[in-house]
Amino acid sequence: MDVQLVATWQEAHRVDMQNRIAVVIDVLRASSTIVAALNSGAERVETVDSVDEAVTRAERLGRDQVILGGERGSVKLAGFDLGNSPLEYTNEAIVGRPVVLTTTNGTQAVYASCAANEIVIAGLVNVSAVAAWLLERENDVTIVCSGTEGRLSLDDIHCGGLLISNLFEPGFTPQLSDGVRLALQWFAANAGNAPYVLASCTHGQRLIQQGFEKDVQWCAQIDSVPVVPVWDGTGFVLQNT
Ligand code: MLT
Repeated sequence: MDVQLVATWQEAHRVDMQNRIAVVIDVLRASSTIVAALNSGAERVETVDSVDEAVTRAERLGRDQVILGGERGSVKLAGFDLGNSPLEYTNEAIVGRPVVLTTTNGTQAVYASCAANEIVIAGLVNVSAVAAWLLERENDVTIVCSGTEGRLSLDDIHCGGLLISNLFEPGFTPQLSDGVRLALQWFAANAGNAPYVLASCTHGQRLIQQGFEKDVQWCAQIDSVPVVPVWDGTGFVLQNT
């Protein structure tokens, strides 16, 4: 299994994803929100890259039936039902209904991965379940860390490093690409510190200043929601593990 890692969704547009599985990571917060929504019984989560397309998609699916969610600058969009907080996607709010989600970076990372054979969503909350799913497939993998507005984001690198450490035997070799080595070494140096990493990274700091500290804490809970959201052509659905 060849594993590559890109640090931003912008970089993902420049790499060849054909015949590979893309693992999209946006720990803070889009990946975690997709996992939360499906775990709370959403029928599916359709990710779209623009606000206009999200509204159009929701109308096409039936505006009364759909949960329209998303953010720009981490703030809930006007006219949307929910923002991008995983804590909002409760069973009572969404069970049995499709979710249409657009976010600043995470849903762009999905769009940038659309040439891949399969797309799967990973956050810290479901990282081991995704690793087990990948090990069953033995396909080459590109880990797409979403980053934050074009810059590397340590929340995503931490999750990427943990994921890779579940895929390989311990040990760093020169055969591994620089992105993979960076993530593995970052994770090895900070294992056990996910709450601190998320709370202290740039995006985590911004979320806390905006009042989303509980989200940051929730997103740091490793393997708390062991589900695997997989792309079915138009949206993410839960895959049996
Ligand atoms: C994103 O997609 O950029 C993030 O999920 C932003 C956020 O934390 O709401």
